Amino acid sequence: MKFFIDTANLAQIKEANELGILDGVTTNPSLMSKEGIKGEEGVIEHYKKICDIVDGDISAEVLATEFDKIVEEGKKLAAIHPNIVVKVPMIKDGVKAIKWFTDNGIATNCTLVFSAGQAILAAKAGARYVSPFIGRIDDGNWDGIQLIEQIASIYTIQGFQTQILAASIRSSLHIVKCAEAGAHVCTCPLEPIMGLLKHPLTDIGLAKFLEDGKKMGSAIA
Ligand code: G3P
Repeated sequence: MKFFIDTANLAQIKEANELGILDGVTTNPSLMSKEGIKGEEGVIEHYKKICDIVDGDISAEVLATEFDKIVEEGKKLAAIHPNIVVKVPMIKDGVKAIKWFTDNGIATNCTLVFSAGQAILAAKAGARYVSPFIGRIDDGNWDGIQLIEQIASIYTIQGFQTQILAASIRSSLHIVKCAEAGAHVCTCPLEPIMGLLKHPLTDIGLAKFLEDGKKMGSAIA
């Protein structure tokens, strides 16, 4: 399973990248706005900075909701860097635009997906990624992980090439469950990624090894 970081914060992107396990970045208008990014030039410059940090797919979301405008905006975003993946919402004109981008060699991430039916449409249109929002589904008393399992099963049966990009991740357990359920990619804030490191028995075991190590005198290092 690939790991993407779900943020537009450059310091957090750098920190995750330095861990050596980062495969890409996803952003959305809420995350970009949180970093104070403004205007077309501001957006373009910020994506350039992200692309300079991470060598992997970088999702850049369109704000347009009409076919012609989505295509126009998506082309501008795709021109920023070869690693840009145009993120398009799961709406009628969005599906139409994803098909256009597919036919014209531009990679897409279909976002705001909450059902298996929507995931089938995204795959039919040729999206590189489909983004089911796990946390928001859980928030509504549905089971986000179950949706990942369902989409994974459908894609396998039908031989769809679209990759399941589990989004709206809220915890380290979500990451583990997404891996188990067959997600190809998990995009997460920094905290749940770092949370995967934690186990009290690791801390206790390391403290004991270090204590016993001192009895041996100087270490090789
Ligand atoms: O990038 C989309 C998604 O990850 C949003 O997450 O936490 O706002 O539901 P959240």
